[in-house]
This record gives sequence, structure tokens and C-alpha cells, in this order.
Amino acid sequence: MRVLITTEQIQERIDELARQIAPEYRDRPLTIVGVLTGSVMFLADLVRRLDVPLRIGLIQASSYRGKNTTAGELYLGPGLLADVRGRHVLLLDDILDTGQTLSRIVQLLHDRGAASVKVAVLLRKQGRQMHAVTVDFVGFEIPDEFVVGYGLDYNDEHRQLPYIATLG
Ligand code: IMP
Ligand code: MG
Repeated sequence: MRVLITTEQIQERIDELARQIAPEYRDRPLTIVGVLTGSVMFLADLVRRLDVPLRIGLIQASSYRGKNTTAGELYLGPGLLADVRGRHVLLLDDILDTGQTLSRIVQLLHDRGAASVKVAVLLRKQGRQMHAVTVDFVGFEIPDEFVVGYGLDYNDEHRQLPYIATLG
């Protein structure tokens, strides 16, 4: 494994993202929606830096895939989402790859009556997007390599690493 983004780099970048995000929601009811399971670290670190009232919702998403493969069929489990009607939603995920997951969830949130939907991802993989999705906040642009750590998994492992690494 090779470290691509260190713990310190991640934490500094989330400080900066929080400073950009908080002013946008000072006077608007905010619900942060995290995509399970990969967004849990990013969600926990970001919300503790947002000095605005907010609610937290979660949505389950999984697309079967191995290392380097294209996204398979997407499963969404909105059972934990809570009511977003009239609320300004900030959707969080660990990584934007093809965009299939986030484009589908953005649509679902609009269908459920969200007042607005913005998207924040910790990582965006270059040259991979196939589904249209507007991303408002990006932590890091990364090359097209398979990464793990800080929520990201390979076969459901390595999520607990406090840094982002490539699997060699
Ligand atoms: P998309 O729907 O193709 O944008 O894929 C997004 C999802 O694929 C993410 O939420 C991750 O769960 C997974 N994913 C994409 N690239 C990677 C990677 O490099 N490492 C681990 N998971 C990844
Ligand atoms: Mg994921």
C-alpha cells in the first residue's frame, strides 16, 4: 500500500471545506445526507467543524464492483433518510467515480421535496465521470487509481485507515 493523501492533509482540507460550506447554510435549514458506508469518516469529521444548526440523514448505496471495474447495478436503501421536504440538503460521499451513485441520489432527494441539493465529495477521480452530476465541493482530485482508507474499502476492508492509500 502506498499513502496518497496523509491524515494531516485530509484534516486540513476538511477545515477549509467547512469554512466554505458553513456560510452557505447560516440561515437555511440544513440536512447533511451521508452515503453509507464510505462517507462515515468524512461525515463525522466535517459536521464537527460546521458551526451551524443541522440534521444528519443517511442513505445506503452499493454498486457491485471489484477493483478497477465499472460500476454495476446500483442498490439504494433510503430507509434511514428521514424527511428532507423543504430542507436544504448537502449530500456527502467519499468519492465521485462514474457519478452513477450521486446522480441517482440527487434525483431521489429532489423527488422527496428537498428545497435544494448540493454535493460534497472528499475525492474526485479524474477522467471517470459518465453520469451528469454537479459537485459543489471537492476535497482532492485524484488520478484513476483504486484507493482505500478513510471510509473507502476494498472487499469491505481498510475503511478504518486514517489516510488514503492506493492498493499496490
Ligand atoms: P460511482 O457511482 O461510480 O460514482 O461510484 C461511487 C462509489 O464507488 C463510491 O461511493 C465508492 O463506494 C465506490 N468507489 C469508486 N471508486 C472507488 C475506489 O477507488 N475505492 C473504493 N471505492 C470506490
Ligand atoms: Mg460508497
